[in-house]
Amino acid sequence: MALLLPTIFPTNLIKQVCRLLLASTLAYCSATAADSPLTESQPTSTAATIALSSNCPPSFMLSDNNQCQLRNLYQLYNSLGDHGIGGLKTALPAHRDGFSPQQIDLGRLLFFDPLLSADKSVSCASCHNPGQGFSDGLGRSIGIFGQRGTRSAPSLWNSAFIKDFFWDARAQTLEQQALSPLFSPQEMGNNPSQLLSSLQAVAAYPKLFKQAFPDSSDLSLDQIATALAAFQSSLISLNSRYDQYAHGYAEALNQQEIEGLNIFRSFVARCSQCHMPPLFTNQQIAVIGTPEPEGMPRDIGAEKTFGSVKLKGGFKVPSLRNIAETAPYMHSGRFETLREVAAFYSGGRGHAVPEGEDLLLHWHISEPNLTAYELDRLVDFMGTLSDSSLLPRTPKSVPSGLHILSEQKISEKIISNKSISENNHDKS
Ligand code: HEC
Ligand code: HEC
Repeated sequence: MALLLPTIFPTNLIKQVCRLLLASTLAYCSATAADSPLTESQPTSTAATIALSSNCPPSFMLSDNNQCQLRNLYQLYNSLGDHGIGGLKTALPAHRDGFSPQQIDLGRLLFFDPLLSADKSVSCASCHNPGQGFSDGLGRSIGIFGQRGTRSAPSLWNSAFIKDFFWDARAQTLEQQALSPLFSPQEMGNNPSQLLSSLQAVAAYPKLFKQAFPDSSDLSLDQIATALAAFQSSLISLNSRYDQYAHGYAEALNQQEIEGLNIFRSFVARCSQCHMPPLFTNQQIAVIGTPEPEGMPRDIGAEKTFGSVKLKGGFKVPSLRNIAETAPYMHSGRFETLREVAAFYSGGRGHAVPEGEDLLLHWHISEPNLTAYELDRLVDFMGTLSDSSLLPRTPKSVPSGLHILSEQKISEKIISNKSISENNHDKS
């Protein structure tokens, strides 16, 4: 069927034909139907016809006042206290929701639009690629003009539950966070007036902002931040095999994974003391003594944020959800695999801290002396935390009409960047 339809066939017409022809049985039709909520099937020049979705993403319910409210099984459970650290049926921390479907959808378009960067080459998705757990596969991200930063891009899954943002916890809301990459010279390099004028210059954007923010007159930075926050708080990943097990489906994990869970929450390994289920972070800062990549100076991390030398080398405990997708690991990507990370924790308290350097290690960093078998089981268990079933749709096109990096392009970029960094490394 797909081959018989000429490529210039108008999409709307195809949709009507598909509706008549029992859409789901035809490959072409289901692919086209997936365009549904919005803009992407429309040519970007016909701004007048673009409409943002009026539906909430899956797992959100639309309230009478047009707000998307999150629903999940963890809302049935009581607080942590009743079940102990590492217990299964424990509640999630407080979350952000209540954005309108239109704000979430506008945020999605902005997230993928390279127009937001100074040279129109980098979008949020360049470093937070949905196909790579909303990270970029790099130890240290690359911004405009190929500049390499000093830290790795965290996953954005479940951002709705995160209390402090960045590895050093220096931003307290998603809105505050969003403006930082936009105006950082190393990341997107833009400035407020250029950002606003480039959005205003694309006919579709003022109309789309009006749909998302019907009560305000002018397109503003606050609206950009709100829309990006709305989109990011819709990235929910709570249906991994671990979750199914936690909710009572015992067969969701195999024997080795269950052994891994038990090691993870044991007081020998102590992983769950910091990576506390069900979010797999206690949202605190901990100094654990992660080594920097060779040749890089110590990143003081949270010492700077809080002006406290006790927090030198301290970082936010990251959530481990979808962790199998976001290698390399730690704030600057020092470890390539989860097995290396697990072995790091078993290597002895402070073993990777260079001699003469003073770090105040967290008391849960101990000497668990795990066996090779136990380290393998920890890796098995972390693999059960993957779930991308609610992956949002990558727009086919964005209002600026600029090219969106395809997933293939992104992986090519990663390979070429890796070889650049290896060459640089050889020189240093
Ligand atoms: C050049 C790559 C790059 C681009 C582009 C980029 N980010 Fe990031 N992002 C990072 C890195 C690296 C960090 C961690 C920085 C740090 O901790 O100091 C980060 C951190 C974040 C965090 C904090 C996550 C957490 O849990 O702490 C959020 C949220 C985020 N970015 C959203 C965005 C949004 C929204 C955009 C687009 C406006 C964007 N990023 C563009 C690389 C990038
Ligand atoms: C004292 C608190 C603490 C304990 C205990 C702990 N972690 Fe961590 N974990 C952290 C912090 C903080 C980081 C980030 C450190 C950095 O980037 O330098 C981290 C990072 C990680 C990462 C990499 C995450 C990413 O996004 O790159 C993995 C995987 C991980 N821990 C697994 C474990 C396992 C498995 C255990 C048990 C053996 C464990 N952790 C015990 C605090 C802890």
